[in-house]
Amino acid sequence: MSNTRQLHNIALIGFMGTGKSSVGRLLADQLRFSFLDTDDLIESRSGKTISAIFAEEGEPAFRKYEQEVVAELSSRKKTVISTGGGLGANATHLASLKQHALVVCLWASPDKIWERVRSQTHRPLLKESDPLAKIRKLLAERESHYKQADILLNTEVRSLKEVAQQVLHQFRLAKTLYQ
Ligand code: S3P
Repeated sequence: MSNTRQLHNIALIGFMGTGKSSVGRLLADQLRFSFLDTDDLIESRSGKTISAIFAEEGEPAFRKYEQEVVAELSSRKKTVISTGGGLGANATHLASLKQHALVVCLWASPDKIWERVRSQTHRPLLKESDPLAKIRKLLAERESHYKQADILLNTEVRSLKEVAQQVLHQFRLAKTLYQ
């Protein structure tokens, strides 16, 4: 991390099922920050669910919506931003988030991720005959990007509350060290 950073916000990146939204809400409460979920914003803007966007307009259109949202985030202050799983795997988006936020990647293994998401049906990328294989493949492709985050936190060994506490601690530390 460079010596000076604008750490107005916290951005949570990482794969589906790592707890970004739940941890983000807890953190926002604790810090009295606003909470923003990029997927929720895209859904409310387009008037469609993420699944409908993928089905009707395709993944490239969804990635375009993500790009628009990322550009707008730079004006945010005191916000905990929870990002869709693919957003933080894009080097340009990651660099943009780092301009205004401490970027924290929440991590879990493919098996753990599958255990957490298997009962859910809202993720178009996992509507596959072998979702666990898809998780392994995507995670392997994205790993090197996710690891460019300022902080990497394993969520397998911690409760959501403990993860939020860790992020809070790291954020306070980073603010004293880099601002
Ligand atoms: C995606 C993850 C999803 C959502 C979309 C694509 C991805 O968000 O943005 O289905 O590419 O990993 P969550 O990580 O919140 O599930």
